[in-house]
Amino acid sequence: MPLKLIREDITKLHCDAIVNAANSSLLGGGGVDGAIHRAAGTGLLAECRTLGGCRTGEAKITKGYRLPCKFVIHTVGPVWRGGAHGEEALLRSCYRNSLALAKQYGCESVAFPLISSGVYGYPKDKALQIAVDEITAFLLGEEMLVYIVIYDKSAFQIGEKLFDDIAAFIDDRYVEEHFDFRYRSEVFADSIALDTDESAPLAGDTFAAKAPLFETQMPACASMPAPAAAPMPAGQQKKNATLDDALKHIDESFSEMLLRKIDEKGMTDAECYKKANIDRKLFSKIRSDRLYKPSKTTAIAFAIALELPLEETKDMLMKAGFALSHSNKFDIIIEYFITNGNYNVFEINEALFAFDQNLLGV
Ligand code: APR
Repeated sequence: MPLKLIREDITKLHCDAIVNAANSSLLGGGGVDGAIHRAAGTGLLAECRTLGGCRTGEAKITKGYRLPCKFVIHTVGPVWRGGAHGEEALLRSCYRNSLALAKQYGCESVAFPLISSGVYGYPKDKALQIAVDEITAFLLGEEMLVYIVIYDKSAFQIGEKLFDDIAAFIDDRYVEEHFDFRYRSEVFADSIALDTDESAPLAGDTFAAKAPLFETQMPACASMPAPAAAPMPAGQQKKNATLDDALKHIDESFSEMLLRKIDEKGMTDAECYKKANIDRKLFSKIRSDRLYKPSKTTAIAFAIALELPLEETKDMLMKAGFALSHSNKFDIIIEYFITNGNYNVFEINEALFAFDQNLLGV
């Protein structure tokens, strides 16, 4: 999973480089800048003094000193002044220039805070989207493990409507599975309410639920001879088509089904594993071993990247030895997004994060 969203103190991370949201003097400050300087010790400030400052949008690199990382990449984000003063372009260049420096210094892993989203006031949801956009664009052509460090949960706000939709979707399914319906919906409602209190999104609906409900339209059957009796119900036709398909591929392994689906979708291998946020090495293992068994989140990440409908997703999971079950929220949230035709891995991860679940990928 080349891009990971984690909740951590960036000064604790053992990656090759961490990025500092600095100011143009590079002589330290508050927020993450202050935390990094405190953890690195005076050697960092002494080296920063030799750099002659840094312009907004640019980046400079120093050693990590007492930090567990090798390097610190200092970049200066824009102050948010409403969005009409070139802030977005400057923030994007912070990520691009920092990633370019990380690559130049041979870093295999780098961690970013949400640049400008603290003291500089950049709206956190916009700042997060820009970070993800720029990092995923970089990772299309490069091999690197990149962390986006979410220091406080408010940085991760899925829209209230989306949150409520998912909570209701979980409620409908989780309750069926877990409790005898007569006695405990109030118990479950409490736990959902607790979730809502704990991870209540800030005001404003940043990620309205996307896409109309996912509909499986029967393909036109004009060429089929009209049956003597009443036409077979659409669901039955679909079941037959799926059944034939399933019988044809009953002995297929996970790897074989994955490669077949990539071909059927007209995707390249790289397009598929990049969209699934899976690294090339893991994909090569799956491609070269027809009996390879991936983790459940990896199998789901590929099903999402291929935009498989729910039944095919369940089929692909089954070939990896898993099932989508209603006994855990992770699976139900995945089912929610597939049922609603939303295959955006980032938005799915945001929802998984909001419900304290593991994120998609390896
Ligand atoms: N680890 C990870 N992230 C952190 C940490 C930490 N230890 N401390 C703060 N953050 C997060 C904040 O929650 C915020 O989301 O880093 C993000 C950036 O916030 P700031 O550090 O305030 O940086 P920024 O908004 O870019 O403002 C830069 O603040 O500290 C001064 O000297 C700095 O003048 C500069 C300005």
